[in-house]
Amino acid sequence: MTCLVLSSRQKIYWISLLIVSALSVALWYNHVTRLDVAIVGNMGNMGLHGYIRITSGNMDQFLNARCKECALVSSSGQMLNAAKGKEIDKLDCVIRMNNAPTLGYEHDVGSKTSLRVVSHTSVPLILKNETYYFQKSADTVYVVWGPERNMRQDGKGKIFNVILKAAQKYPHAKIYVVTREQIQYCDGLFQNETGKNRMQSGAFLSTGFFTMVLAMDVCDSIHVYGMINNDYCNQANPAAVPYHYYEKGRMEECRMYRVHEKARRGGHRFITEKAIYGRWASHRNIHFHHPSWTGRDSGA
Ligand SMILES: *[C@@H]1O[C@H](CO)[C@@H](O)[C@H](O)[C@H]1NC(C)=O
Ligand SMILES: *[C@@H]1O[C@H](CO)[C@@H](O)[C@H](O)[C@H]1NC(C)=O
Repeated sequence: MTCLVLSSRQKIYWISLLIVSALSVALWYNHVTRLDVAIVGNMGNMGLHGYIRITSGNMDQFLNARCKECALVSSSGQMLNAAKGKEIDKLDCVIRMNNAPTLGYEHDVGSKTSLRVVSHTSVPLILKNETYYFQKSADTVYVVWGPERNMRQDGKGKIFNVILKAAQKYPHAKIYVVTREQIQYCDGLFQNETGKNRMQSGAFLSTGFFTMVLAMDVCDSIHVYGMINNDYCNQANPAAVPYHYYEKGRMEECRMYRVHEKARRGGHRFITEKAIYGRWASHRNIHFHHPSWTGRDSGA
């Protein structure tokens, strides 16, 4: 009953003690929550939220990839006789598209594949050769994109279903899908860059577009090989190369691009997309090789 009245000195002592304990509790709490986040991260919850791994269990693993220097290798016929294989393989990560082969083309396109972006329409081509892609090339990360009707995860998405089966059969294969939100984000990018609604204008984004957006998410700098600029096909004598380096005798690149650019429905706007890359290149770390051009050359 004697200590109810505290001297001012005692008051300062108790207040200080209170502050110190409050601080310790705050620091401890902060430590615990941060640790928590780290553990969740180890379980795969960190990473790029636009890309999610397909597994038979909980689908909660995002793509966790970071590269300093990337090669983005176009599938264009420009790569024939490019002799860029060594240069490409030296870079930290090599990104390719669909079923573009390296076997037999190493001298021109290199042999390393860190990441492959695959369109829903090319999934059957990958599955035709599933042991090659998911077993022999199991280090490669596969990222599949497609429209909701093919990629829905409620059992009605035809392409999603076959990828899920492949992921169950090859549990070590690193197979991801582009999330619906990321696809909507890409539509938004297209609309902001062109002023046109992607769907209303009858356009499909190309695999190249999703690949460029992914590369900007993953890479500090991007070296694009074999991609022409948006003016290239208007020049006097554009090189007559096949649309894809691995499909000889099919339609020639510029012709294919023009047909698609004009298609009223379901066309890929390859030329418009290249103008967009040209604009991005001028304020991001994107460099074009073979043919070599800069954002400023593109007239975008
Ligand atoms: C699978 O891919 C490899 C490498 O591109 C190729 O050599 C092989 O012929 C393909 N096999 C089939 C069955 O398509
Ligand atoms: C498009 O532009 C609008 C308005 O400036 C902005 O709010 C939105 O985030 C942009 N979308 C993308 C995908 O960049």
